[in-house]
Amino acid sequence: MNVDVLLGLQWGDEGKGKIVDFLADKYDLVCRFQGGPNAGHTLIINGHKTVLHTIPSGIFRHDITNVIGNGVVIDPFTLCEEIDELNDLGLNVTERLIIAKRAHLILPTHRMLDAASEKSKGLAKIGSTLRGIGPTYMDKTGRNGLRIGDILRSDFRQKYETLKAKHLGLLKIYPELDFDLESEEEKWWTSIEVLRKIQQVNGEYFVNDALKNGKSVLAEGAQGSMLDIDFGTYPFVTSSNTVTSGVCSGLGVSPRHIGKVIGITKAYCTRVGSGPFPTELHGESGEELRKAGHEFGATTGRPRRCGWIDIPQLKYSIMINGVTELTVTKADVLSAFDAIKLATSYQYDGKDTMELPYDLDHPGLTPQYLSMDGWNSDISGINDYGVLPKNVKSFIEKMEQLLEVPITLISTGPEREALLTRD
Ligand code: GDP
Ligand code: IMO
Ligand code: MG
Repeated sequence: MNVDVLLGLQWGDEGKGKIVDFLADKYDLVCRFQGGPNAGHTLIINGHKTVLHTIPSGIFRHDITNVIGNGVVIDPFTLCEEIDELNDLGLNVTERLIIAKRAHLILPTHRMLDAASEKSKGLAKIGSTLRGIGPTYMDKTGRNGLRIGDILRSDFRQKYETLKAKHLGLLKIYPELDFDLESEEEKWWTSIEVLRKIQQVNGEYFVNDALKNGKSVLAEGAQGSMLDIDFGTYPFVTSSNTVTSGVCSGLGVSPRHIGKVIGITKAYCTRVGSGPFPTELHGESGEELRKAGHEFGATTGRPRRCGWIDIPQLKYSIMINGVTELTVTKADVLSAFDAIKLATSYQYDGKDTMELPYDLDHPGLTPQYLSMDGWNSDISGINDYGVLPKNVKSFIEKMEQLLEVPITLISTGPEREALLTRD
């Protein structure tokens, strides 16, 4: 069997959680392979909203095992809060949740370092979610990190104290922070006790054995391709590989096991945090899109920057990820507009190009737009392609023609059922 992948093609928040929840029904395992609680994946089921940060979005499907892979960074406290919330909904999470021993731990001092680093950057800040993601991955690559598998070792406390001391030393180069370390540590250690009771496995064997035994696996991306540490808008990115190659290193599966790669994009584009965004709409139109799409961060509540869909950017993400099919979400949000635009190429220093330049913030870069008629009607909740207004179909077909990948799923609202499949 193969690992199918679903991942975001833009700057995150494409609606991955909703689509993974829908697709999960067809799989035996759903696995997160990178990122951590910087992610906020929203699921709306029977009118109830849940935002998942670390737990895979297959958790609402009862027969599915959910794996937090080795490439993920885990904040014990956030994870326990999620487990409690889901248990309160009667989900019995602990029976269906598996954690890879090689997944790294976010310490309270990682969050302090994140905050201190951002503060020191002033206007040049990344706009991090301040969940300690960057410093934790730095300790991973710097070979200082603590891992889930360490929490059962007798020397765990000592390892923790050593790393904490190192962090406190580093923090001396920054101005003092308002952070109640003592109370954060208390919550952290209480959560570690809870995590000790959760099934820990050698994730690479667990996933490969499942594949060998004919089980189907879906890998759930977090963030989006433009936030990838290598291929995103560096330095305004996250600290992991969010692209398909991250599945291999984040779960321990061979590239030969990668099956379908489902890329997900909004019918427009958003980004939260700093960094270049060529099709961003400033002023009234941006505000209108933000309002129509309720574009506020699922993790931090920050307003998301909004703009038109960007075809060169999407083609870049499709190339890097090897996308085999596309999902388009939030098409219903565009009902608010008389005319809908797509950036079909860039002018870069006066020359037309489809290539994403190294310096996406170059002042001589201007997106070239194609304008299409809107549909002036509410399409929320429609789940039959045949009954969509003609102009919605023209928009979808134009995207498909430009992107050269079939669009197989279209989402028309935040609820689980607001979705249509297309052959
Ligand atoms: P994720 O991080 O990719 O899982 O996406 P988020 O959950 O952060 O953000 C997507 C937001 O859009 C959430 O509030 C979803 O409930 C909502 N959403 C998802 N699909 C649709 C859709 O097709 N239409 C509308 N209107 N909202 C959607
Ligand atoms: P999901 O999985 C949108 C952004 C942050 C910031 C940058 C670095 O919900 O799509 P970090 O906390 O990783 O150091 O932040 O990345 N970012 C996201 N933006 N959706 C996310 O996740 C994000 N995770 C991180 O806003 O600009
Ligand atoms: Mg999100």
